[in-house]
Amino acid sequence: MVQRIGLIGCGVISDIYLRNAALFRDIRFTACADMRAEAAEARAAQYGLRAMSPDELYASSEVDIVLNLTNPEAHAAVSLQALDAGKHVYTEKPLATSRADGEAIVAKAREKGLQVGSAPDTILGPGLQTCRRMIDDGTVGPVISGVATIMSRGMEHWHPAPAYYFQPGGGPVLDMGPYYIGALVTLLGPVAQVTAVGRVGLAERVVTAEGPNVGQRIRVEVPTTVHAVLGFESGAQVTLLASWDVWKHAHAPIELHGETASLRVPDPNFFGGRVERAVDRDSWTGADMADRFYGRANYPAAKPIHANYRGLGLAEMANAIEGAREPRVGGAWAFHILDVMLAILRSAEEGRGLAVASRCARPEALTDDEALSLLHEAPLRRVG
Ligand SMILES: NC(=O)c1ccc[n+]([C@@H]2O[C@H](COP(=O)([O-])OP(=O)(O)OC[C@H]3O[C@@H](n4cnc5c(N)ncnc54)[C@H](O)[C@@H]3O)[C@@H](O)[C@H]2O)c1
Repeated sequence: MVQRIGLIGCGVISDIYLRNAALFRDIRFTACADMRAEAAEARAAQYGLRAMSPDELYASSEVDIVLNLTNPEAHAAVSLQALDAGKHVYTEKPLATSRADGEAIVAKAREKGLQVGSAPDTILGPGLQTCRRMIDDGTVGPVISGVATIMSRGMEHWHPAPAYYFQPGGGPVLDMGPYYIGALVTLLGPVAQVTAVGRVGLAERVVTAEGPNVGQRIRVEVPTTVHAVLGFESGAQVTLLASWDVWKHAHAPIELHGETASLRVPDPNFFGGRVERAVDRDSWTGADMADRFYGRANYPAAKPIHANYRGLGLAEMANAIEGAREPRVGGAWAFHILDVMLAILRSAEEGRGLAVASRCARPEALTDDEALSLLHEAPLRRVG
């Protein structure tokens, strides 16, 4: 049975979800809502949906799953309201911005017999899944160490309304951390302890992105440069460098070093990329994921350079609901990622190492056949 999707939060990221929706067999978007009614009406007109108020959408008999694409600070309230109304929830990252809210979402879903799924679904793409296979089959040996780098100059030069990135719930750890920590937990299992330092870099940001907010000055309220060491339960130790105060750098997104080889993991913000392995000091050998379906560049639409299949996790969750099983990018995994990120921030604030209390299982691997079976039409499935 096709799951009917009601989207709340008709901002920047809603477009790619709506565009990709046509690919997937088990989901159909029916309605959209936003606290800014004009934003909901615009998306509804663009994609042939019913614009509703948020309250109408929670109560709608035409919605099975609420897709929560609101700003991070609103995630918990929206997800809890949707669960209270008897809807499954799939939320953009992070699951919530506090541990208590994250716990409440997972507990409410369990109590009501509903599912919670959460971005990032990039871990289901061929880039991360190939790395996972290489780790699982012993191609790199047990992982000893690694470095992950979230580094850029920030968001105010491209996002038309970037203030939320610099307010509580934002910052590079909570905003981009889900991709990197989500990928690491998928590859290596849960994190047991963290130690971090952090600071505000630039105290103020000026919006240069075109749009109504150009010239706006934003006071930075969260650390924008955080360096952390993550100790995994497996024994692996990974350094995470998370900063929006970097003009240019030459680091790979994620490098992992195993007992028999080193592995370069592609940018976990996207689905494809290049996977590389080195068994000596001379050279990397690898493969590009561009010829795999979810690895093929489709974004930006006008001149594609990245594989952006956001919505794959939502489609996988719809399929899981039908099969009465847990979604791969599920609540326990998303809660552990949140727990690790909050522990990093608290460690930096308190100046001491901290144990991470939660644990989760690694999301099940997604085989190529399973990934392609989520697509709508047979001809599309052959594209890859
Ligand atoms: N922009 C990106 O490239 C990007 C990429 C991946 C993930 N995300 C995530 O997607 C989410 C949304 O980001 P965005 O960039 O689209 O933000 P945005 O500010 O462009 O859009 C968010 C929308 O949510 C609406 N909203 C906020 N609170 C609401 C509430 N309580 N009820 C109803 N509507 C509400 C706002 O009016 C706004 O239209 C965030 O969690 C972000 O981390 C964004």
